[in-house]
Amino acid sequence: MANVTGKIVVTGGAGFIGSNLIHALLGDGWDVFVLDAIIKQVHPDGKWEKPRKVSFFHGDVRDHGIVGKCLDGADYIVHLAAETGVGQSSYEIARHVSVNELGTAVLLEEAAKNLKYIKGVILASSRAVYGEGRYICIKCGVVYPEGRGANDLSQGKWEPRCPKCGERVKPTASIEDQPLKPASIYGITKHNQEQLVAQFTKGFDVPSVALRFQNVYGPGQSLNNPYTGILSIFCTRIMAKNPVLIYEDGQEKRDFVYIEDVVESMRLVLKKGFSGFDVYNVGMGSGTPVLEVANILAEEFKTDVPVQVVGKYRIGDIRHAWGDIRKIQEKFGYKPKISVREGLKRFIAWVKEQPKPEDRYEVMEKEMVERGLLGKAP
Ligand SMILES: NC(=O)c1ccc[n+]([C@@H]2O[C@H](COP(=O)([O-])OP(=O)(O)OC[C@H]3O[C@@H](n4cnc5c(N)ncnc54)[C@H](O)[C@@H]3O)[C@@H](O)[C@H]2O)c1
Ligand SMILES: [Zn+2]
Repeated sequence: MANVTGKIVVTGGAGFIGSNLIHALLGDGWDVFVLDAIIKQVHPDGKWEKPRKVSFFHGDVRDHGIVGKCLDGADYIVHLAAETGVGQSSYEIARHVSVNELGTAVLLEEAAKNLKYIKGVILASSRAVYGEGRYICIKCGVVYPEGRGANDLSQGKWEPRCPKCGERVKPTASIEDQPLKPASIYGITKHNQEQLVAQFTKGFDVPSVALRFQNVYGPGQSLNNPYTGILSIFCTRIMAKNPVLIYEDGQEKRDFVYIEDVVESMRLVLKKGFSGFDVYNVGMGSGTPVLEVANILAEEFKTDVPVQVVGKYRIGDIRHAWGDIRKIQEKFGYKPKISVREGLKRFIAWVKEQPKPEDRYEVMEKEMVERGLLGKAP
């Protein structure tokens, strides 16, 4: 594999995925530049301990001036900076659209002034672009159900139904070229980010890749952000000795992928090289029920805090989601190495070393209730 290095700009490099990525990039010999606004929801004390060798630009990805300065002479860009609250994006619409879409637009405009150097862009996209995703109906074949309505959820009808015949359907992995039906403002912004980057590639002939990350977890994840990262929320509850609350019946599945595997996906893309524009799922390639993950977490945490299935639900949540990872496997040789149990063990070991975070779950829940976004089945 070629040993590609040079100047690499990581937007959002102080965040969870970014801070893990930059350590690996430094180790690979990259000249790492980070642009990050250090937003309060992720960094409550407004600080970031930057690694010594990193050049840090403290600023907003929507600010042409600072973005231009940071990008000057850059060979590659990894665009991670984003607002990431899936539920929150349904009422803080402007903030999510502005940071994610305008931010990408400004970044690309500034990159276009740097064409002499720039060799490629990697965008952090998300499973959220798929919405409810792909299911199999025994009568109708592959179907893409609509999101579940408040009516069904309030009666505890958790599973989506076939949009053609109304029968029960079986979830299956999402594939890159299936129809995209984002079920949240956040998902829409991620889809639009992909399209902006794809168009940039067409217009300027700069290669780009969008990686649709599944549920990433691991050391460095914000334990203070109650709006995102289900495993952080569970850990924060356990440390505060408050019960872990599981929505719906706990059988909803997600693709939990450990941070090291996600970092490796980006390193492989950089090392193997890419041309044109393409999208790839990055995950474990299988789904695990949320209740199972919560139980493993509680067991490995060795806590007596109860895990409670409460039948509450969030309007707009999808039921099952995991990504088919064969495409990135074939193209870049990506293969996740850390099992969910092993990843959770490592995550917990890190969590236990952190200052006890404030459990702000109830604040978040109150906001959702006030906006009519959280309900409870009888
Ligand atoms: N963590 C996941 O499970 C997951 C899953 C799918 C996709 N993603 C995507 O991966 C990327 C990184 O996610 P993360 O989990 O590391 O999030 P994070 O919140 O930990 O990090 C995001 C970083 O971006 C910075 N930021 C926010 N707004 C900014 C702005 N206007 N200008 C500059 N910097 C800004 C924040 O300060 C933070 O350091 C995001 O684009 C996210 O949508 C994450
Ligand atoms: Zn059917």
